[in-house]
Amino acid sequence: MTPTKAPEAPARRARQTATPVVNDDPTDDVDATSTVEFGPWLAQGAELRVSKWRAGRGFYAPAHRGAPTSTRQAEVLNTAAIAAPTDEEGVVIGEDRLSRTLVAGDPFTAYQKGLISSPNVVVVGDVGAGKSSLTKTVCVLRVLPLRRRRVVVFDKKDQGGRGEYTSLVERNGSTPIFFSLDGSEKRSIINLLDPAIVLGAGLGRTLDLLRAVAETVAGRGLDDWEMEALRRALRMTMTWGESAGRAPTLVDLAAQLPRVHTTRDELSPAARERLHQSAATVMFVLSGLLEEFSGLFDGETSKAIDLSDRLTSFDISQLPATGPAAPMVVAAANMWLMGVLRRRRGWFTNVLAEEGWDLIGGANGALWRSLIKLARGLGVSMITNIHKLADIPKSSPAYAIIQEAQTVHVFRQSRAEDQAASIEAFNLESSAGGSLGSLTTGDHLYKVGSNAEVRVRHVRTPWEIAVTNTDEAMTENGRGQA
Ligand SMILES: Nc1ncnc2c1ncn2[C@@H]1O[C@H](COP(=O)(O)OP(=O)(O)OP(=O)(O)O)[C@@H](O)[C@H]1O
Ligand SMILES: [Mg+2]
Repeated sequence: MTPTKAPEAPARRARQTATPVVNDDPTDDVDATSTVEFGPWLAQGAELRVSKWRAGRGFYAPAHRGAPTSTRQAEVLNTAAIAAPTDEEGVVIGEDRLSRTLVAGDPFTAYQKGLISSPNVVVVGDVGAGKSSLTKTVCVLRVLPLRRRRVVVFDKKDQGGRGEYTSLVERNGSTPIFFSLDGSEKRSIINLLDPAIVLGAGLGRTLDLLRAVAETVAGRGLDDWEMEALRRALRMTMTWGESAGRAPTLVDLAAQLPRVHTTRDELSPAARERLHQSAATVMFVLSGLLEEFSGLFDGETSKAIDLSDRLTSFDISQLPATGPAAPMVVAAANMWLMGVLRRRRGWFTNVLAEEGWDLIGGANGALWRSLIKLARGLGVSMITNIHKLADIPKSSPAYAIIQEAQTVHVFRQSRAEDQAASIEAFNLESSAGGSLGSLTTGDHLYKVGSNAEVRVRHVRTPWEIAVTNTDEAMTENGRGQA
């Protein structure tokens, strides 16, 4: 066989032709009037906000797709070993362990290409396996320079008295929206009856939110009578708000509950009495909530809560690590977000829930799942970050959320039961189970849709390493901060 000439190194010109779609429209304006559903299928892929001049000189061009061989012959003989598992479209994730080629991906791009039907993402793995470093780079830092993209983070992990995303958010010129129960002046309030929730998400979803919050506090489900009382009180409160000329709050709702009555005589006196009793029970629950979580829900939504920045962080790290406060704030903020997004179409939003299991477990699971369904039509990708998969009951809505995600990053899991749960939930090759226990930090299995999983080494730039490190307190830089 005649040896074939080695392919020439890609010329500079070739890099220039690989320039991504350039958009020189400086106005990233939002079409607030559009009522058309704006789902991921309308995304323009990973479109960079770049200057035409710089792009013309190859500044933003992805590296030419490489083939680590010196002859064409070898390419033919070793196709399995050299073929890149993904194309270059989307956001760079890292390097394929097998072919040593670039791995890139982005739910919006994959959706557009028909690879997935759900833009939601799940990241699982042991403590310290590299989950947050991945989400901070792939889902936040590398997405922000793209056109019409924004990121919302629910930042639950405490790092020296602030959320772990704080420095990243501040570097981006934004200020985290801070929640606490200690009376801090910086703390924010979120109104469960905010107009963005009631008008944007609708009265039915507002009721779902109130139900989830009341059930979380009561530690039990509301019965039909209590739900009817809540429904009537909500309607009365909205009418009252119109006449009072301001957005009603949870305090106003609690005040309306004892006044719940039937306007027509459709109920017997006994049934009316039962409804009244049920309304009183719900009032006790809500009053207890307002007292116990004073400063979280008892007023109009703070001005700081808006979506004007590309990167918005809800810092819930100072709320009690266990208990209902953090999940309730996240449920309300998510509902507020969906309400706002309904009226501001045209952008694609990554919503990231760190320590997701704490947030989607319990009474919030069903609400979160319904929000996830709503999210798709609003151009939202929900990214949930969890560990200990085996601890999540299979019958729970949280498990359904995990199973329905079509983009998964599975990091190291030392417990055999978590490895088995991952193989089952994500339909991984069963041989993957053995490797899950020995993955080094940052290494993970990446699976999109029905494609086979790829073992990826997540690669960060030095700057990204500095921004994403979470072990400050254990290192030189963090000495004295712990
Ligand atoms: N790709 C990587 N390569 C090398 N080191 C990494 C990589 N990703 C993360 N690390 C290191 O591991 C540490 C822990 O990572 P990270 O905080 O992302 O883990 P985690 O899975 O989010 O942990 P937790 O469950 O506690 O939130 C980081 O501070 C970083 O130093
Ligand atoms: Mg983490």
